[in-house]
Amino acid sequence: MTELTTLIHDASEIVVGPGEDDTLEQHENAALAVVDGRVAAVGPTDEITEEYPPENATHAIDADGRSVIPGFVDSHTHGLFAGDRSDEFAAKLRGKTYQEILAEGGGILRTVRAVREASSEQLLSNLLGHLDTMLAHGTTTVEVKSGYGLDTETELRMLDVIRQADDTHPVDVVPSFMGAHAVPEGTDAEAYTERVIDDQLPAVADQGIAEFCDVFCEEDVFSVEQSRSILEAGIEYGLTPKVHAEEFVRLGGAQLAADLGAASADHLLHANDDDRAALAEAGVTPVLLPGTAFSLGAEYADARAFLDEGGSIAVATDFNPNCHSQSMGFAIALACIGMGMTPAEALLAGTQGGARALDRAGESGSLREGMAADVAIIDAPSHVHVPYNFGVNTVETVLKDGELVSG
Ligand code: NIG
Ligand code: FE
Repeated sequence: MTELTTLIHDASEIVVGPGEDDTLEQHENAALAVVDGRVAAVGPTDEITEEYPPENATHAIDADGRSVIPGFVDSHTHGLFAGDRSDEFAAKLRGKTYQEILAEGGGILRTVRAVREASSEQLLSNLLGHLDTMLAHGTTTVEVKSGYGLDTETELRMLDVIRQADDTHPVDVVPSFMGAHAVPEGTDAEAYTERVIDDQLPAVADQGIAEFCDVFCEEDVFSVEQSRSILEAGIEYGLTPKVHAEEFVRLGGAQLAADLGAASADHLLHANDDDRAALAEAGVTPVLLPGTAFSLGAEYADARAFLDEGGSIAVATDFNPNCHSQSMGFAIALACIGMGMTPAEALLAGTQGGARALDRAGESGSLREGMAADVAIIDAPSHVHVPYNFGVNTVETVLKDGELVSG
């Protein structure tokens, strides 16, 4: 006999996920039943409660006219770091560029020094703190990259901390190896690429934690050829490729992601129509990161042009010391206000789109029957309030696998 663990009833709406033609499928005056951590049924409250009476549920939650949406899937973060780069934020506001700061040994390289010096306990405590904030803001699955070690020992240590966080925190944490995040001091990109391939990748594969391999394919960082050789080696070890592509200049990372059948190509501020068509044709999810453009004062990616290609796109936070926001609600607000997405498009991009970018579309990012019951209850009658009430956390309650974990 299956046990009805949680019943949410009397929601003003329950957003299920993408509907026909990628519109939003939702039920009004709705309820959702959870059995064994999965969505067992979703629909009008009177129909659902007939089959699943609230008195039979271990937990019955009266949503009392609030909106219920899938938990956010934040598919791109560098959320494990140490140190403080708030002074760089101020320097950028005075006109310094991101690349100038990196060329002077700041930026990523400064975080690398801080991470190498930090104990694993300190790193874990930092990450768990950020996961608490993410969860309170409705994120139930998050990708976290390594890439602030840039040597085998520290990259492995970062991945191990990411695994420990996944084991201990309600948020699902998806580990990506990003040894090719920057070229460490005292070497050059070509020599370091060899180290990533010959030393880091075999050790990462042996450790068996990382699921994806990501590369910062960018002018003065890793060339398309270097990125290709790292990602191809990663594929040999069973790691699915992802690419930081066309962030500051158009270098060819998007075409590379398409060639390799990557799970995603991310940033894409300078992608053109050919890049968009190639990604759509190859089924690679474009991950747009409006918080990064916002914090750098850069032009946003052309979300409308990506949507016109017809495939699903993702919106994520890119939470890192250069883009210091853990809030998917804020990223979704920027997707609407900065990139002209509708609230429904942005919400889908922050849930189903994120799940696709993490190869988890059959598991999370929607509230269809059989999916993980990862749920955010919004303190408002409509999901539109997520971007409409920007700068404020509209998430009141969060369930992970049907269990109340926040609120
Ligand atoms: O995705 N662009 C490269 N990596 C990060 C920034 C990391 C950092 O500055 O620490 C990004 O924006
Ligand atoms: Fe990134």
